[in-house]
Amino acid sequence: MNHPISGPTKGVRIAGTGMAVPERVLTNEDVATMVDTSDGWISQRTGIKSRHIVEDDTTVRDLAVQALKQALDSAGIEADQLDLVILATLTPEMVCPATATRVVAEIGAAPAGGMDLSAACSGFVYGLNVAASLMQTGHYRHIAVVGSELLSKIIDWQDRRSCVLFGDGAGAAILAAAQDEGPGCLYQSMSSNGNGWEFLYCPRSERDLPPDANGFSGKYNTLQMNGREVYKFAVSTLQDTIVKAVQGAGIELEDLAMIIPHQSNQRILESARERLGLTPDKLYTNIERYGNTSAASIPICLHELTASGRIRTGDLILLVGLGGGLTWASSVWRL
Ligand code: ACO
Repeated sequence: MNHPISGPTKGVRIAGTGMAVPERVLTNEDVATMVDTSDGWISQRTGIKSRHIVEDDTTVRDLAVQALKQALDSAGIEADQLDLVILATLTPEMVCPATATRVVAEIGAAPAGGMDLSAACSGFVYGLNVAASLMQTGHYRHIAVVGSELLSKIIDWQDRRSCVLFGDGAGAAILAAAQDEGPGCLYQSMSSNGNGWEFLYCPRSERDLPPDANGFSGKYNTLQMNGREVYKFAVSTLQDTIVKAVQGAGIELEDLAMIIPHQSNQRILESARERLGLTPDKLYTNIERYGNTSAASIPICLHELTASGRIRTGDLILLVGLGGGLTWASSVWRL
């Protein structure tokens, strides 16, 4: 059900946020009982200390519904006021239907639109940008953007190079049409370079392997990662994307109350932060507690920052996603 408003929307507010992580916590020490690794190695190379992992009966939809309900509560709107739910995930329940349609039904928002969006760890920022642009048409009053992931289901738990990095979780944001021009998306970008697809991919069969994958020894249907290439891509792209977004928005780096990057690796984040000359309080990180939750990482950060009052109405923030594809995206907002 759409709730058209008269004429183009002036502003768009991030009216509410929510998050959900499974109760079960897997510490580095726990992971070290499963593969040949240690808390020291994982902490030093990634900054991760623990991650949340679902029990077998929890689905990616369950986490999305939990996060979305909390976001609706914090926005003070009812589910049936939603016009559309965009669910960013690289771990949907099935190829068809889109997980988003069942989330819409489960929260009582049907017949609101529902679609899944696949852009790996950049998915939430892609979704937010799409939603912000749709809101500008004036045809939508409330759009929910959710990032929900069960990375634990596509990880090879015997591959120490990748299994230490990821966690499960979900985060959500509600966009609401505003009649004043103050709040909204000042600048957005979405980019990709499919030439780097094989740095992070999830092959279903031999057909999906890169031509040079002779003697492939990984497991099908699990994430295959070239850590060093992803690292190089992430460090340089994070810095470039921040600089371009600030220029595109016509602001200075110092004007930003907070930069919220995808939580890939503490070293990647620190490196970009230092090169940009930012103080630690300007670049939010929580990877220590959740690991890399792909499309869920940015909305989880957004919720923590909003709920704790560290970002407020009137603040300028920048969200930056980076991930498999390769993909990257930015979104500058006046809250
Ligand atoms: N525990 C102990 N030793 C390990 C582990 C582990 N978990 N994993 C690898 N090693 C070993 C390797 O076998 C290797 O040993 P060797 O020298 O005897 O061969 C040694 O550690 C160094 O391995 P490298 O792969 O070179 O380690 P590196 O310093 O590159 O760190 C890491 C690996 C942490 C994966 C890093 O490359 C990285 O963070 N890359 C980015 C990955 C990423 O962020 N992926 C997320 C998805 S995309 C995104 O979010 C943007």
